[in-house]
Amino acid sequence: MSTEHTMRAISQNVLGGPEVLQEVRLERPAPGPNQVLVRVRAAGVNPTDWKHRATGGFLGDPPFVLGWDVSGVVEATGIGVAAFQPGDEVFGMLPYPYGHGSHAEYVIAPVRALTHKPASIDHTQAGALPLVSLTAWQALVEHADLRPGQRVLIHAAAGGVGHVAVQIAKARGAYVIGTASAGKHDFLREIGVDEAIDYRETDFAEAAKDVDVVLDTLGGETAVRSLRVLRPGGVVVSIIPVGSDEFPEEAARLGVRAVRMLVDADRADLRSLVDLIEQGKLRATVERTFPLSDAAEAHALGDQGRTTGKLVLTVD
Ligand SMILES: NC(=O)c1ccc[n+]([C@@H]2O[C@H](COP(=O)([O-])OP(=O)(O)OC[C@H]3O[C@@H](n4cnc5c(N)ncnc54)[C@H](OP(=O)(O)O)[C@@H]3O)[C@@H](O)[C@H]2O)c1
Repeated sequence: MSTEHTMRAISQNVLGGPEVLQEVRLERPAPGPNQVLVRVRAAGVNPTDWKHRATGGFLGDPPFVLGWDVSGVVEATGIGVAAFQPGDEVFGMLPYPYGHGSHAEYVIAPVRALTHKPASIDHTQAGALPLVSLTAWQALVEHADLRPGQRVLIHAAAGGVGHVAVQIAKARGAYVIGTASAGKHDFLREIGVDEAIDYRETDFAEAAKDVDVVLDTLGGETAVRSLRVLRPGGVVVSIIPVGSDEFPEEAARLGVRAVRMLVDADRADLRSLVDLIEQGKLRATVERTFPLSDAAEAHALGDQGRTTGKLVLTVD
């Protein structure tokens, strides 16, 4: 294959650890109607990437190219694309879960998954933000209808989802309680957390009371026990979408709401996030960037579950 019509991509033929990821050369796709071909400049790496690498998840058997976050430059547009032109800088989240493939030099995106990248942020920022910010926005704003003055508990507040959820909650005028190990409490305060709980030393269910909204990023027992810190009528939104019936059953018993959700690609939500970015209220902390060819290293680090903010792949 000539390099003119091909692209580098991170693919895998088998499920397994980070070592199954390989840099391969694939045919460069062509955009269909209502699609855009994006030259990828940066793409966040998320837990769903390493979960799919290891288990196949929603995607089944490999080969596949992972990656849902994307920031880059429009290379070509398909029939009927009015919103973008070649050369436009765009970012967004590919439709979850079946639109994956941004851990490559080029990716196809439906028009509705993208919006123009704000000029105030670079591609690394823009590649870090979409999946985690859309998740946090949809959890806190759409499902929980978070209001000024309400008390919100965010589990794993230093992680990818957590650290943007804190900023979104603060932007909506909420009082934010966040959990993290003690070494990350300075970081939590920097991003706006009002009250930090060291989950290794303190039981959050004892420390947090009269909470209106919990963002559960851990699932299992944490989701169920989070219901007990709520005020009557409060809600736990869990982004771990599968788990036992105890979660809804306990919620019904306590007179509170239990919601499980998966993030959904949505341009209107993305534009709400752009507003926050442009107002300086939302910013990703990028712990580390990796060149595309070091994707396996990014997976190995992320897999440890200790990331502060985001890991991002960059493509020259
Ligand atoms: N439903 C959806 O659509 C959706 C969307 C996005 C993410 N998710 C899921 O949500 C989870 C979180 O995603 P993420 O991107 O935020 O992950 P992440 O960035 O890998 O989270 C890392 C953070 O988790 C913290 N942490 C680990 N165990 C903790 C605990 N027991 N209590 C409090 N903090 C803890 C770590 O802090 P310490 O080092 O202090 O422990 C670290 O800062 C993942 O399982 C992901 O798959 C689901």
